[in-house]
Amino acid sequence: MLEVTGLGVSYGSTRAVDDFSFTVGSGEAVALLGANGAGKTSTLRAVSRLVRGEGRIVFDGDDVTGTRPEELSRMGLVHVPEGRRVFATLTVNDNLLVGQTAGGRRKRFFGLDAIYDLFPALVPLRKRYGWSLSGGEQQMVAIGRALMAAPKLIMLDEPSLGLAPIVVKAVYQALSQIKSELAVLLVEQNAAVALSLCDKGHVLLSGREALSGTAAQLGDREALIDSYLGHGVDSEDAQDGEAIRSH
Ligand SMILES: Nc1ncnc2c1ncn2[C@@H]1O[C@H](COP(=O)(O)OP(=O)(O)OP(=O)(O)O)[C@@H](O)[C@H]1O
Ligand SMILES: [Mg+2]
Repeated sequence: MLEVTGLGVSYGSTRAVDDFSFTVGSGEAVALLGANGAGKTSTLRAVSRLVRGEGRIVFDGDDVTGTRPEELSRMGLVHVPEGRRVFATLTVNDNLLVGQTAGGRRKRFFGLDAIYDLFPALVPLRKRYGWSLSGGEQQMVAIGRALMAAPKLIMLDEPSLGLAPIVVKAVYQALSQIKSELAVLLVEQNAAVALSLCDKGHVLLSGREALSGTAAQLGDREALIDSYLGHGVDSEDAQDGEAIRSH
């Protein structure tokens, strides 16, 4: 579904992403892990063409390296950005309907009713305005709106950030229900939560891939991943980690 080769992103003299290659198969969920500033958001922004990057991006068989962001979302590559972006002056229901418009005539797995089934907490909030929602509620609306756009690939940037554990659980339960229907590229700092959902993962360290493998392989290296996520580095573990690179 998505094939990214040699991705690079620079902001002036800051090299945010360097020579990063990965794929997301259809029906596959892939985690991008890394500490603050590791280049996760920049990777997603480069894939959805919100920033210029080097390298080649193939989406659903088409080379989209020069495609505009709006066109990409029309093609089914839907990005739920960092921070929760809902339309403040639209109701929850209307926010969701905006997603439907974006989906055009593509086959959709999630209609309005399916979104309310996925996030029952939104049912009593149907008529509430975006500005009046809590962070977790906004996150659910943002994900719901993206699903209404009939994505072939959904990219989520830190869906659990700032949410209470119970809300994180609800969001991830919803994601585990949708993952069989579409491809998922998930950015997270919470490795355990991400790897419980995803089939495989990549760990970024200062813009470069430090480690990659299946969720099971990475799960066995939790201490090492924690070190890459900024919980103290253990160099012996780091060398050990090289062994499980899958390429
Ligand atoms: N618009 C920008 N202009 C200049 N530098 C930027 C810009 N956006 C990001 N950077 C820098 O690029 C690097 C990667 O940032 P990025 O946002 O991709 O990291 P991240 O992995 O998403 O981090 P976080 O977990 O904090 O969201 C950082 O050093 C950051 O300061
Ligand atoms: Mg980020």
